[in-house]
Amino acid sequence: MKFHIITFGCQMNANDSDWLARALESRGWEQADDEAARVFILNTCSVREKPEQKVYSVLGRLERHLRRDPGVFAAVGGCVAQQIGAGFFERFPFVRLVVGTDAVALAPDALERLAAEPETRLALLDFLPHFSERAEPEPRPGVMGPAQAFVNIMQGCDNFCAYCIVPYVRGRQRSRRPGAVLEECRTLVERGAREITLLGQNVNSFGLDSGGEGVSFAELLRRVAAIPGLERLRFTTSHPKDLDPDVIRAFGELENLCPSLHLPLQSGSDAVLRRMGRRYDRARYLDLVEQLRAARPGLALTTDLIVGFPGETDEDFGRTLEMMGLVGFESSFSFKYSDRPGVAAARMEPKVSEEVASARLDHLQNLQNTLTKDCLEKCVGSETVVLIEGPSRKQDGGEPFWRGRDPAGRTVNVAHGGEADLSGKMISVRLVEAKKHSLIGEKAGAPW
Ligand code: 5AD
Ligand code: SF4
Repeated sequence: MKFHIITFGCQMNANDSDWLARALESRGWEQADDEAARVFILNTCSVREKPEQKVYSVLGRLERHLRRDPGVFAAVGGCVAQQIGAGFFERFPFVRLVVGTDAVALAPDALERLAAEPETRLALLDFLPHFSERAEPEPRPGVMGPAQAFVNIMQGCDNFCAYCIVPYVRGRQRSRRPGAVLEECRTLVERGAREITLLGQNVNSFGLDSGGEGVSFAELLRRVAAIPGLERLRFTTSHPKDLDPDVIRAFGELENLCPSLHLPLQSGSDAVLRRMGRRYDRARYLDLVEQLRAARPGLALTTDLIVGFPGETDEDFGRTLEMMGLVGFESSFSFKYSDRPGVAAARMEPKVSEEVASARLDHLQNLQNTLTKDCLEKCVGSETVVLIEGPSRKQDGGEPFWRGRDPAGRTVNVAHGGEADLSGKMISVRLVEAKKHSLIGEKAGAPW
């Protein structure tokens, strides 16, 4: 059976889609482009209204495409699937499977069943009391795994920040058993992974529920970092209120823990942070930044920011700009506040107008561009090690470039004219130029 997966949203979704593709391939299914596919799988995101709307527009487009062949069908997974559930069946007759966020492990069996039973429809929407483990499909003999790998360490979130739909569509926090995390990490390293990113909605509170067997996040980091052959360890996402002193210490102690941290600030105004229910203030955030930089000089900080949260004044917004400058974020994801069904902020007034929110977002992104450029320019002249991800779209006078990341996660494009495929290789480069969002590097030191 030929299938095509379309993924929206975060790295969790990307990781789930990747697993599903491998699981289906191990059962003899084949990935195909959207012309040849007979099963379409949409892995969806509902964190803001825009990505949710995109799901309906993609399904609308598929509807016309699918009319040609009644045997073709679609499955919807991820956060919008959990949110809308069997409602998809009424709106889109060709949707025959809805897979909630805890049911990804059941999707391969369900898809096989639907392929064999054209009249059947299934909705798998139950939340599970524990982290739902899934079997890792056997790799094809002789095929190495990717150099960069992602490992889920928990599901769900208990924080209920006022704007956020995640606790409703991903359920309560459930940590994965540390033994299972370690086993997956070890296997990935044996199959060629040099970098692992641990994933969860709020990894800093790993182990605070019963699933983590009393192992703290800092302890988990130490155990994973000790796996022989693992060169780079990252994690995302963190909540500032749960960033433990022991995790900060780990940045100073674990050499392969990368010097970068994504630490969502959301707003620089204490009044807005209070209404968001974030449970930290500016002073606490700045204190964390100071401690982190003391533990690991040069640590690169990135963040998430929301503009136009209900009641946000010009002054509140000014405080966010001020914080961005004080911290000097390397980069940030920034969003206009978007009402989500059922969240506390949906009932908060006054709403900020679309025009004001758009103007604030522009202003913020311009400032971020300047901060990013400053950070990148400071790197020029230094030497670093780049883990190559693949060929770059960048071309310079016909010379091919390879794209990778430095230890802090900055994108580096490296010119290399040779025949060799550098994907997955770690190479020494000298950084010679800062672009808007990336660096240009040249081969350094010994020949590659
Ligand atoms: N509106 C705008 N941005 C949101 N985020 C989460 N919920 C909303 C919302 N309702 C942003 C936060 C979060 C990131 C993943 O998405 O910044 O950190
Ligand atoms: Fe949403 Fe807050 Fe949980 Fe992050 S910590 S997923 S923003 S509720």
